[in-house]
Amino acid sequence: MTKTIRKVAIIGSGFMGAQIVALAALHGYSVRVYDIEKEALEKAKDAIKLIIDEYSSKKGCPGDTKQTSSKVSYCVDIANAVKDADLIIEVVPENLELKQKLFSQLDELAPASAIITSNSSSIPISRIATGVKRKDKVANTHFYTPIIKNYFVDIGGGIATTDETMDSIDAWLRSMGCLPLRVKKECMGFVFNRIWHSVKRECLASWANGNADFRDIDRAWMISYGTSAGPFAMMDAIGLDIVYDVEMEYYRDSKDPKDKPPDAIKAMIDRGELGRKSGRGFYDWSAPEFAKPNFIKPR
Ligand SMILES: NC(=O)c1ccc[n+]([C@@H]2O[C@H](COP(=O)([O-])OP(=O)(O)OC[C@H]3O[C@@H](n4cnc5c(N)ncnc54)[C@H](O)[C@@H]3O)[C@@H](O)[C@H]2O)c1
Repeated sequence: MTKTIRKVAIIGSGFMGAQIVALAALHGYSVRVYDIEKEALEKAKDAIKLIIDEYSSKKGCPGDTKQTSSKVSYCVDIANAVKDADLIIEVVPENLELKQKLFSQLDELAPASAIITSNSSSIPISRIATGVKRKDKVANTHFYTPIIKNYFVDIGGGIATTDETMDSIDAWLRSMGCLPLRVKKECMGFVFNRIWHSVKRECLASWANGNADFRDIDRAWMISYGTSAGPFAMMDAIGLDIVYDVEMEYYRDSKDPKDKPPDAIKAMIDRGELGRKSGRGFYDWSAPEFAKPNFIKPR
């Protein structure tokens, strides 16, 4: 039977976790959020309030912001966070071993009826949920940032995920105005993120090999696709550390040297140039060049 989702637990209160918390709370779901770092959980309180304010001012996301914020509980104990959850979403860094360990822990702690999903950007759920007993109730739910704009979500089951589990997730997402894109056969990167992977790989190679200026690649992309940012600005917005971890997962999977992210991006990360969150990545985010009116010219 399709399970109706009412209570949600989010594990990991960083960049994506905070956005998912805000989205669910705005749509009336009761949300418990846990992070292994107390500081991160504290930081998330302000971030979630800001996102709730921003979302509630947009069409399709109505809501009393005070009432919405009261839907969110912050937990320093993981067992407390998941104790009565219908749906648990893991949103921790892109590291297979970390996610595998966490899934086994969640399987032990969560009610037997709970569905457990991963927001991984690349790794199929069957590889993450190896140590889990409830293989019928695990899935990938991959949200795209910013969630308020990119309302599509890749969803995919593993080797034993039931249709009921997938239908429950599908219904929950649709109840929040999201459009689920179903993976028909498990693969790295799911429906759309593997396309984005190819874009990132080619852009990074062009830049690192000195073939082109990253700004020109962004300019061409922006004109061609009518967007307000190109791939390098988008990678900055995601976080270059996150981009690197994701690209490394593709490389570990394929072992194809072409998939290995260039050393130059690792050097940027080591210098603390992580993109928007650290103030500097490809762009200086105090006044990002790509957002200036004359970035693209002539005409
Ligand atoms: N950044 C993006 O644009 C983006 C988009 C889609 C998907 N994703 C995926 O979402 C996941 C999280 O990415 P993010 O950008 O939110 O990362 P982030 O670094 O901003 O947040 C991760 C959080 O997880 C916490 N954490 C680490 N280990 C934990 C554990 N064992 N238990 C609980 N919390 C733990 C960290 O303290 C941190 O607060 C990754 O798998 C990433 O690939 C990211």
